[in-house]
Amino acid sequence: MEHGEQTIRVAVAGATGYTGAELIRYLSRHPKAQIVAASSESMAGQELEQVFPGRGEKLRGLRLVSLEELLCVAADAVFLCLPHGQSAEVGARLAGEGKKVIDLSADFRLPDPALYRQWYGIDHPCPEWLGAACYGLSEFYRDQIRRAQIVANPGCYPTAALLALVPLVRARLIEANTVVIDAKSGLSGAGKTPKPHLHFAEANENVAPYSPGRMHRHVPEIDWYLTLAAGRKVQVIFVPHLIPMDRGILETIYVHLTSGTKPEDVLHCWRAAYAQEPFVRVLEHGLPATKRVAWTNVCELGLAWSEGGVAVLVSAIDNLGKGASGQAVQNLNILFGLEEGLGLV
Ligand SMILES: NC(=O)c1ccc[n+]([C@@H]2O[C@H](COP(=O)([O-])OP(=O)(O)OC[C@H]3O[C@@H](n4cnc5c(N)ncnc54)[C@H](OP(=O)(O)O)[C@@H]3O)[C@@H](O)[C@H]2O)c1
Repeated sequence: MEHGEQTIRVAVAGATGYTGAELIRYLSRHPKAQIVAASSESMAGQELEQVFPGRGEKLRGLRLVSLEELLCVAADAVFLCLPHGQSAEVGARLAGEGKKVIDLSADFRLPDPALYRQWYGIDHPCPEWLGAACYGLSEFYRDQIRRAQIVANPGCYPTAALLALVPLVRARLIEANTVVIDAKSGLSGAGKTPKPHLHFAEANENVAPYSPGRMHRHVPEIDWYLTLAAGRKVQVIFVPHLIPMDRGILETIYVHLTSGTKPEDVLHCWRAAYAQEPFVRVLEHGLPATKRVAWTNVCELGLAWSEGGVAVLVSAIDNLGKGASGQAVQNLNILFGLEEGLGLV
């Protein structure tokens, strides 16, 4: 099915996780999408209306099914909100049947299977499908997304970093190899499976870095797409922190400006890159903050400070919005030739 007036039949695999539940929220008010199936292994059989109360009539009569059952349902597009390693084979099977796949996991984001093995510790389950996948950073890959069978929805941290950095690296306004990203994320970024450091007594009133430097799995993703934008090898320094809040990502990004670049060039560059983009807001006054973008598909960018050839950039998104399910819906709209903001505002 393409373009137009018809309804798009969509299914959500892993609907009871954080990104899956956010997708149900977006899709239940999307004027062109009809939810035809949603899966959960632990809650299969339960009525969607009870699991997601207040989400409206679109859920009426639907029950959660197992992933195996979901795979047999006729659908035009399937969102995969599964852990990495679980998505790849499912995505390949669905794509092989001609369904459009929007994968929120990391399984199709790194085109190089050796890199996937290095960072995810397993051989890629179906490397032959990596070529059919397109990176789903909507603002920069929409032409490729339109033609893709599989959309690899970007990671949450990479989305905030790349939206700030790609235009600047392309325009050679910053030294691409001295970028330091200080990132903070709300706890929903870690998914719903309980882990000791996510317990209330551990996480509340606490801020802690983890996987600092070049240890986090999002580092190769940021490097890969910045390298493509720069046309030369880029390696960032990345220090993520968990913050005791439900949702949101704020990245403070330290960069060196290239010789002759003035701080206002950064703002001009962002403004030019995003003038026509409804979901990237370049701030003229004030600075980005997570509450300003919570529950939305918006990324806010701001220039916090600059002197002596150094600049401090700030990027804020909702990890479940632009960092996951919001961008996934934006990509659905691109895939089917719809207005990009449908269901998102
Ligand atoms: N959280 C974020 O901010 C975020 C942002 C961007 C991307 N992502 C990525 O998006 C994916 C989903 O993340 P999430 O945070 O929503 O995860 P989550 O909260 O842990 O939810 C995972 C979902 O997948 C289902 N599931 C787990 N293992 C499964 C299996 N073996 N077979 C079938 N279903 C299975 C779970 O179903 P049950 O009901 O049976 O448990 C649940 O519905 C991950 O790959 C994550 O890295 C997350």
